[in-house]
Amino acid sequence: MTFHSMWAELLPVGRSSASGGYRRFAWTGADLDCRAWFRQQAEARGLTYEADRNGNQWAWLGDPARGDAVVTGSHLDSVPDGGAFDGPLGVVSSFAALDELRGRGAELTRPLGIVNFGDEEGARFGLACVGSRLTAGQLTVEDAHRLTDGDGTTLPRAMEAAGYDPDAIGPDPERLARIGAFVELHVEQGRALDLSGDRVGIASAIWPHGRWRFDFRGEANHAGTTRLADRRDPMLSYAETVLAARREAELAGAVATFGKIAVEPNGVNAIPSLVRGWLDSRAPEQHTLDTVIGGIEKAARAYAQEHGVDLAVVRESFTPVVEFDHALRDELARILGTDADLKVPVLGTGAGHDAGILSGSIPTAMLFVRNPTGVSHSPAESATEDDCVAGVLALADVLEGLACT
Ligand code: GLV
Ligand code: MN
Ligand code: MN
Repeated sequence: MTFHSMWAELLPVGRSSASGGYRRFAWTGADLDCRAWFRQQAEARGLTYEADRNGNQWAWLGDPARGDAVVTGSHLDSVPDGGAFDGPLGVVSSFAALDELRGRGAELTRPLGIVNFGDEEGARFGLACVGSRLTAGQLTVEDAHRLTDGDGTTLPRAMEAAGYDPDAIGPDPERLARIGAFVELHVEQGRALDLSGDRVGIASAIWPHGRWRFDFRGEANHAGTTRLADRRDPMLSYAETVLAARREAELAGAVATFGKIAVEPNGVNAIPSLVRGWLDSRAPEQHTLDTVIGGIEKAARAYAQEHGVDLAVVRESFTPVVEFDHALRDELARILGTDADLKVPVLGTGAGHDAGILSGSIPTAMLFVRNPTGVSHSPAESATEDDCVAGVLALADVLEGLACT
């Protein structure tokens, strides 16, 4: 099993010495280092390596042109100051599971692929799962070309700088048509497995979720000389909206988070002219999410009016509810259910994944590995070595069950 050495090799890549968290943003040097690592792992195993038109990386054992391929993998990019496991655990476990299969002398009857999807977190350009969305035709080329990072660099320029051709991006239905099943292993981003005492679980569904941008525009003015009564301060309406989001989410049994903000002119002694806040909200059902967003927007408009501030709300992305393929899920449960030491609970999640995007095109499934604290999108994200190894073995069992019979 090569899990430990692979894990140790990848661990320092893109880690901030200040925070201990990861800053592996799409098409930056850290991302390219991760991509070089992926390619090296593929080639060291004699797999056929390719980067597709959208910058996703693939490593193949057997010829995918035969069709009905079984694919596993995840992503290597991170959120700002993310943890080590969200994404990389799935990719490293995929290579380790392949090594395990080879060690068992398993004979493949279907092509087997390992994938690293590009820009899953959307940390740089604001939209999550860009690589899989493009491939599945859920993001138009025009919209992708318009994506711009916080420094004003567009996605095409960022891809170009990294040596990829941005004019080649677009839907890839032929590639997806060759895949019979995609299984993504991921660290759990909650405590369900910790509470149930299980190492590994199977995903049932992903909550509908989206990102909304709230632009509060007021008037810049002097922080020392402008009477309170004369101000049009967008920070006030923004702050009240943050509290409204919490209230609406609590009432509905949903979640709502303002986790990113941009302020102009961003001076300590200036009343802001603009406060731009990004809202991430998720709920078990679509109608609940609609109610939450409607409630937050209504409150934001009232607060904006109260403070003489203009408000524009833009939905930047949305992913509907995902129900993972029942037949594939049952197949995973059957395969893993034969292992008496491994109970496999089935759980839903509020986190988004490439497997969710692809589920509209091909049968997909997910395995979760226990996270003892449930913390994720933070340097404190964790999983024990024993649980990671249990995940690798579970994935190897699944791949053997799907691709070797
Ligand atoms: C990705 O991890 C997301 O759920 O935002
Ligand atoms: Mn994530
Ligand atoms: Mn992830």
